Amino acid sequence: MSEAVRSFVAVSISEGTRQQIAYLLGVLRREPGVPVRWVRPELMHLTLAFLGEVSQDFLESAKVRLVEVGQQHKVFTAQLKGLGAFPCPARARVVWIGTEQGKDEVCALQADVVKALRSVGYQPEKRPFSPHLTIGRVRIPDNVSQAVAVRFESEPFAIERVVLFRSVLEPGGPAYSRLAEFPLRTV
Ligand code: 2AM
Repeated sequence: MSEAVRSFVAVSISEGTRQQIAYLLGVLRREPGVPVRWVRPELMHLTLAFLGEVSQDFLESAKVRLVEVGQQHKVFTAQLKGLGAFPCPARARVVWIGTEQGKDEVCALQADVVKALRSVGYQPEKRPFSPHLTIGRVRIPDNVSQAVAVRFESEPFAIERVVLFRSVLEPGGPAYSRLAEFPLRTV
C-alpha cells in the first residue's frame, strides 16, 4: 500500500506581499503581552482545502479534476487587508489577514476546488469558508485585540494558479513542498 500524504490546496501570495508581512511581523512582535507563534512568511498561503492524510491514488484523481478547475477560472488580482482573529480577537486561537480585492474570486475558486475534490471522495469541512491568511497561532486562547488593530494593506498581486502542497510535520514546524500546480486561464 502506498504511503499517505498530508496535503492541502492553496493559492500563494506574491514575494512583495511576503516582504510586507515580514515587516508587519516585526511591528507585531514588539506588541506587549500575548504569546503568538507567528508563521514564517515563506510558509504563508491562502488555504482553499485541507485534505489531511490522503493516498497517492486519491491525489492522482484529484489532480485530474483540479486541472479542470484551473481552466474554469481566470487569473485575477487580490489584495490583503486588515487583521482579524478566529474565533474572535478576545479569545484568539488564530491571527489572520483578510482579503479585500479578489475575495469573491477566491470564494468562487474555493467552491469549485471543493466540488472537484468531493467528486473524488473528499469530505469537506462543514464550516463555511472564510478566506484568510493565517499569520499567527495562539496555543492558549488569548486577547489579541491590540495586535489586530495594527493596520495592514498588501500590494495588489496576481493569483495565477492553484497549488497542491504536501505538508510534512517536523519538530521545528511544518515543511511544505509543491506537488502540483494548476494554472488559471489567462484569456
Ligand atoms: P489555515 O492556516 O488557513 O487555517 C496547512 O496545514 C494548512 O491547512 C494550514 O495553513 C491551515 O490553514 C489548513 N488546515 C485546515 N485544517 C487543518 C487541520 N486540521 N490541521 C492542519 N492544517 C489545517
